[in-house]
Amino acid sequence: MGIPHFLAIPFPILGHMNPLLQFSQVLAKYGCKITFLCSDENYNRLMKTASFGNESQINLVSLPDGVDPEDDRKDQAKVILTTRTAMLAKLPKLIDEINALDSDKKVSCMIVTKNMGWALDVGLKMGIKGALFWPSSATSLASFNCMQRLIDEGIIDSQSGLPTRKHEIQLSSNLPMMEAATMPWYCLDNPFFFLNMMQEMQNLNLGEWWLCNTTFDLEAGALSLSPKLLPIGPLMASEHNTSSLWQEDRTCLQWLDQQQPQSVIYVSFGSMVSTKPNQFKELALGLDLLNMPFLWVVRKDNGIEENNEYPDEFRGIQGKIFSWAPQKKILSHPAIACFISHCGWNSTIEGVYNGVPFLCWPFCSDQLMNMTYLCDVWKVGLGFEKDENGVISREEIKKKVEQLLQDEEIKVRSLKLMEKVIKNKEGDKNLKKFIKWAKE
Ligand code: UDX
Repeated sequence: MGIPHFLAIPFPILGHMNPLLQFSQVLAKYGCKITFLCSDENYNRLMKTASFGNESQINLVSLPDGVDPEDDRKDQAKVILTTRTAMLAKLPKLIDEINALDSDKKVSCMIVTKNMGWALDVGLKMGIKGALFWPSSATSLASFNCMQRLIDEGIIDSQSGLPTRKHEIQLSSNLPMMEAATMPWYCLDNPFFFLNMMQEMQNLNLGEWWLCNTTFDLEAGALSLSPKLLPIGPLMASEHNTSSLWQEDRTCLQWLDQQQPQSVIYVSFGSMVSTKPNQFKELALGLDLLNMPFLWVVRKDNGIEENNEYPDEFRGIQGKIFSWAPQKKILSHPAIACFISHCGWNSTIEGVYNGVPFLCWPFCSDQLMNMTYLCDVWKVGLGFEKDENGVISREEIKKKVEQLLQDEEIKVRSLKLMEKVIKNKEGDKNLKKFIKWAKE
């Protein structure tokens, strides 16, 4: 059998597209052929990010995501439903067209992300095998996979996913005890996400492999929960860094070059979540209080409008604010001292890979669970306490950042964890195993 031809199908948000694109680049480096399916909207965005134009090993194709121009793309529930309906109807024809272009290298394997499990079913019906690329931690996937068991054991409610009695859940004896409220399906207090994932897990089980950007050192307990789980991380090892869906402002790198080693606080909450106006204000004033250089990503016109106003007293003289920055490069820069992060999985892996200590500021979904790992399991970060109004105050921000920066043990553990993750060879081995399977 010749080289495998992968059809990669991410859910159309940056947190899924970027890591799958990065993984596709790694597969392409191993000589695999890749067709990458985007929504029309993301296709147009990718075409605009100048650096992507030369990526010739990856063939981009697109289909509509069914979201009307006047609809809100921030409404995840809606996008999940419209994408499924719109793409499901058109995917078989698209695959036939792709195959007709090169009948010697027909699509041999599909790789989908969360919410796109329906495509695995389409593939199987056309004789194409499939795998899941999970854009978060193995623990979060393992916990979704345990939902039915938790319902059967009466631990969570079958309609809402909320805990029935216990307030702590341990998915298996080799996983940390976790607050029930950190389970990744409690998103935005909307039971849709729980019920949708119950259905989705059935589809995702059609995939033969569940590829995760993680390592045994990071999540041994979770990885032992299903033979499908295959750690292929850390994906950072790829030299390609051309897959950002949004234009990066690289001038921050020159600014970082002028800063002292380990002197800069990096603040970023990823591509989706944002702080409420009063919290935004406290964060701004907390950075002022710290009186240290900072680099703060405040998204502006990346399709998701931010509504944040800087307080009048905010001076921000020591810092730089960017609307989108080259995060991996920033985290690997010697001037970075710590990372105030929402603990999205990609940010978690990128920070750990660079030995940067964390200040954890999770919002929802898997981010709370990732914080448990950062603070309680790997012990490379601290969390913030909210005040009686549910706000993280400027004083709390100052206190915790200073506490973190004085904690030599956290620094040492961060560097040790970094070394382990960098030295990990398992990811490469598993990747080769996966490619071999795809060829068979
Ligand atoms: C989403 C979910 O919110 C998260 O909980 C889940 O774990 C993955 O999918 P997102 O919120 O975007 O992701 O966070 P994260 O996983 O951290 O991904 C953000 C990505 O954007 C990272 O790869 C980061 O390097 C990149 N980024 C962020 C930039 O390139 N530039 C920036 O300025 C900020």
